[in-house]
Formats: sequence, C-alpha cells, structure tokens
Amino acid sequence: MKRVLTYGTYDLIHIGHINLLRRAKELGDYLIVGISTDDFNAIKNKKAYHPFHDRKMILESIRYVDKVIPEHSWDQKITDLKEHEIDLFVMGDDWEGKFDFLSDYCEVIYLPRTQGISTSIIKTDISTSFVKNSEERNL
Ligand code: CTP
Repeated sequence: MKRVLTYGTYDLIHIGHINLLRRAKELGDYLIVGISTDDFNAIKNKKAYHPFHDRKMILESIRYVDKVIPEHSWDQKITDLKEHEIDLFVMGDDWEGKFDFLSDYCEVIYLPRTQGISTSIIKTDISTSFVKNSEERNL
C-alpha cells in the first residue's frame, strides 16, 4: 500500500483543490491531507472563511481523501511522515523546491496547479461583485 501525504488550508473548496487531491490519490492508495488549523493560519497571516472543523468535515467527505490530520506548524512534516509511514509527499508546484529536504524520508512530487482559480481569487471576485451590486442598488 502506497501512502501519500499533502498539506494545505483547503478553504472554499474549488476545482484546483479537487484536481490536486484526485491526482495525489492516483499516485498511491491512501491519501492523508494535513490541513492548517486556524491558529496556524493566523501565524501565516491567513484567515480561512470556514473554521478548521468544518474544513476537516468537508475534506473527509471528498472521495479521494482517506484521512485528515491537523497542521499546527511548519516543522511537523518529518514527524508526520514517520508517524503515518508515508511513501510519497505531494504539493502543488507553487511550492516547487520548498520541500526537497523531505526526500531523505520519502519521494517528493510537485503537481502543476490548476490555472485561473484559487481561494483568494474566489474571495476577491465575490467581494468585488458584492460591492458592484451594492453600488448599483444605490444608484
Ligand atoms: N492548488 C492547485 N491549484 C489551484 C489552487 C490550489 O493545485 N488552482 C493546490 C495547492 O498547490 C496546494 C493545495 O491545492 O497543494 C491546497 O492549496 P490552498 O493553499 O489551500 O488553496 P489556494 O486556492 O491556493 O488558497 P489561497 O488562494 O488562499 O492561497
């Protein structure tokens, strides 16, 4: 059984997330996803719309995902790889090269991102159209 691990915030699930999770699962048999806790996001100056427990439940409902674990810090990866007996570490290529040091412990692969979509883009698009609609209503 080939065990795969990936990490992310996975807020406002979109097609880029699904593509990444599908391809990660196709590279092995069992996919574990580490998702950033709300406290860890605060350290990264990120704020997810959905709280950790909701993001965890949503990810657990995706057919490609076998297990979800919390990501509390930058430096837990080696411990997680050992604890979960991981064979392959996968990230989107926005992280290209950043996790090469993990290749002492398992295979490391960066998958191409899906173009034109991200949680940040969704947030910007929705808030822009909300402002635009409010302005139109006030005309
Ligand atoms: N990802 C992807 N294609 C996208 C967006 C994300 O392959 N268009 C991948 C990332 O490379 C990462 C995983 O999905 O491996 C989780 O990414 P995350 O940071 O949670 O999603 P983003 O949409 O990039 O969020 P943000 O805009 O807040 O950075």
